[in-house]
Amino acid sequence: MKKLIIINGPNLNLLGKREPEIYGSLSFTEFLDEIKAQYNDISIDYFQSNVEGEIINKLHEVGFNHDGIVLNAAAYTHTSVGIGDAVAAIETPVVEVHISNTFDREEFRHQSYVAPHAKGVIVGFGLQSYELAIQSFIKK
Ligand code: DQA
Repeated sequence: MKKLIIINGPNLNLLGKREPEIYGSLSFTEFLDEIKAQYNDISIDYFQSNVEGEIINKLHEVGFNHDGIVLNAAAYTHTSVGIGDAVAAIETPVVEVHISNTFDREEFRHQSYVAPHAKGVIVGFGLQSYELAIQSFIKK
């Protein structure tokens, strides 16, 4: 069985409550339950942290024993050399995702420290961005 993990960065624990006009009104746990039911032939772990170092530790922990990582580093995408370096350091391929179209927003959201080390980037499809990333790991 393929082993994937979704890693969410800061403030994404508030999905459903946080700026619903940008991020939608579904909580991530509700969405995850749906996705797990739909893709029941793969294992999908989940980790969320608001703390940069905890995200780096998780990338190290899963980065040599999972088949794929779906990473929404949220605001740290645009600031964290450390998370970018961690993505470069691990073996498991990482797909960077964003719910909103970061290129249609403030200039500071156009920069990503993750993207140069990612297998690919999926931006702007709402929560479906995560599903597209999962499909990228299972579709040949
Ligand atoms: C985000 C986009 C980031 O710019 C922002 O800081 C987030 C969420 C997204 O999924 O659209 O927290 O990563």
